[in-house]
Formats: sequence, structure tokens, C-alpha cells
Amino acid sequence: MPKETEKIKKAVIGKEEEKEVKIADLPGIGPASVKKLEDAGIYDLMGLAVMSPSQLAELAGISESIARKAIQAARKMMKLGFSDGLEFAEKRKEVRYIITGSKNLDDLLGGRGVETKAITEAFGSYGSGKTQLGLQLAVNAQLPLDKGGANGKAVWIDTEGTFRPERIKQIAESLGANSEKVLKNIFVARAFNSDHQILLIDKIGEMIKDGEPIKLVIIDSLTAHFRAEYAGRGTLADRQQKLNKYIHQLTRLAEQYNLAVYVTNQVMANPAVMFGDPTVAVGGNIVGHASTYRLYLRRGKKGSRVAKLIDSPNLPDNETIFFITKSGIRDEED
Ligand code: GTP
Ligand code: MG
Repeated sequence: MPKETEKIKKAVIGKEEEKEVKIADLPGIGPASVKKLEDAGIYDLMGLAVMSPSQLAELAGISESIARKAIQAARKMMKLGFSDGLEFAEKRKEVRYIITGSKNLDDLLGGRGVETKAITEAFGSYGSGKTQLGLQLAVNAQLPLDKGGANGKAVWIDTEGTFRPERIKQIAESLGANSEKVLKNIFVARAFNSDHQILLIDKIGEMIKDGEPIKLVIIDSLTAHFRAEYAGRGTLADRQQKLNKYIHQLTRLAEQYNLAVYVTNQVMANPAVMFGDPTVAVGGNIVGHASTYRLYLRRGKKGSRVAKLIDSPNLPDNETIFFITKSGIRDEED
């Protein structure tokens, strides 16, 4: 039996071998198509399995009938019952939620906080609370399910040196938790540049396969390195392409391991806006469309913070207020 066929058979039979199957192993997908798909940010079976035949045909430069066969093969290998609504509902049941510490903010996000299998993006200017919300979530992710947590560990990818152990301790202690234990359950990695930041995603996959129950990945900040490294106007398209790929990888990480991804993003002035709020998120629409939930944070009256939900596919564009207190993110002031 040829090696490739053997691999696929193993994958269909034994779950253990699933990770060995690559897009290139699918019928009708040659090296040129693989290259085109990678350029579009599709690296694995999941990415391909969720596409429509016409989408895949266009991206990979193949006919629709070949594309259909490849998608069917990918779905079979992943044992995904896409036609089965009940199975889909079962999969949704796996979704867990992590409370933010503020009921207002939880409600804005649909009632239960930040969710797994999704990306939540917070963008806003300096001091708006993006990092503070991340620190709170890193603690709350560890809470048991019935206390609004995901009963898991957190990964903090730090691009700006903003991770604060002392602050984690403070937040943990206010919940009556053992702060040493809480800190031990947060894996912190400093990303030195965008390539390093991207590589760390694979590392997270490895840690999970090694048995770490990671339920939350925080990236603070998602865009800072990309922004700094692709400063000139001529390189904007390159930056967007790289950022696009990265976000697709994050989406797949969230889906595959049923974890929540929380990313922070800076804002910049949009010269095209003459009236109203002239700030827009770095990375623009690419980040926007991939994020399941986008929060725009800003300073409000009397030390409050205002959070606005933007472009959510299934929730209204509401806004609410919360406070950053000594104990963490809350509905009320200290
Ligand atoms: P940049 O990373 O600079 O873009 O900002 P950010 O949006 O990440 O801001 P961050 O989350 O770091 O919020 C900083 C603000 O949180 C400070 O200006 C304080 O108002 C507030 N803050 C931080 N720590 C504490 C604390 O221990 N107690 C209280 N009451 N407020 C705090
Ligand atoms: Mg910050």
C-alpha cells in the first residue's frame, strides 16, 4: 500500500493519527494547489473541510467537482457530520464560557462572557482596559464551570511586556483563590517578533497534546509587532496577508481545542472619518471579520470604561459600562 494511502487509512481508523494527514494527502490537491491554499491561510483539513466547493475551486485553481471530492474526503477524515444538524448542536454544546468579572460586560457578550471556539478582540486606546480584561480572564478561566470559568489553564502571549504577576495575585486573592496556584496555571511567553508570535501557536498545540488543559489563549497585543515590522505603506499588503494567515491559525486553534482566544488590538486615527469617533482598529477589516466578538473599549465618565460590541453576527451592537477596580473588572467602583 502506498505510504500516503496508508496514512489516510490510519487517520480514518485511529484518531491518534489524525494529525498526520495533510491537505496534500487529499485526492485532487497537488502541490500547486497546496501552495495557493496556504497563501490564502488554509493549512489543515479543518480549514478545507468548512469550505464550499466553489470557494475551494477558486482558491486552489481546480474544478468544482474535484474540489467537492476533496472536501468530502477531508470531512470524512475528520469525521465531521456536516449534514447532521443534531451533531452540530452537540458540537456547540462543548462550548464553554469565561465570565469577565462584570455582569454588564458578560451580558454585552451574550450573557456568559467570552466563549470558546471563538476569538474575542478588544480594541481601544491607551489605558482603555484591554490588558486588564485579559488579566482578569486569565484568572477566571481557571474557575470551575459552575462558577463561570472553563476549569482550565491560560496561555499569555506577551508582545509588549505587559503581563503583571502582581496584578494576577491581586485579582486571584479577591476571589479567595490561592494566588501561587493561579499563577502556575498561566503559561507566559514573550514573543519577540511577529514570526516568533506565529510559531508560538504550534507550541500551544503541542502543550495541549501533552495534556495541558489550556482553555484560554491571550495575545496582548495581536498587532503591535506586525504594525512595527511593516511600517512602510508599500508593505501594507504583505502585513495584511501575514496577519490574515495568523488569525486563521488562531481560529483553527480555538475550534480544534475548544478554547477561547482573547486578543488585544490598538487603534489608530482614521483620516477618512470627519465626524464622530476617528479611531479604527489596526489591521482593519481582516481582523474584524475573523473575530467572533469585537469590543471597542474607551474611557467613560467618572473613571468608568465603556465597552461597545461591534459587528457581531448574532448580537446587537450595544454598549455598556464597567470599572477597573483593585479586585479586577467589575460593574461597580471600588
Ligand atoms: P495599552 O496597552 O497602553 O494600549 O492600554 P490597555 O488598554 O491595555 O490598558 P490597561 O488594561 O493596562 O489599563 C490600564 C488602566 O487600568 C490604568 O490606567 C488604571 O486606570 C487601571 N488599573 C490598572 N491597575 C489597576 C488597579 O490595580 N486598580 C485600579 N483601580 N485600576 C487599575
Ligand atoms: Mg495593554
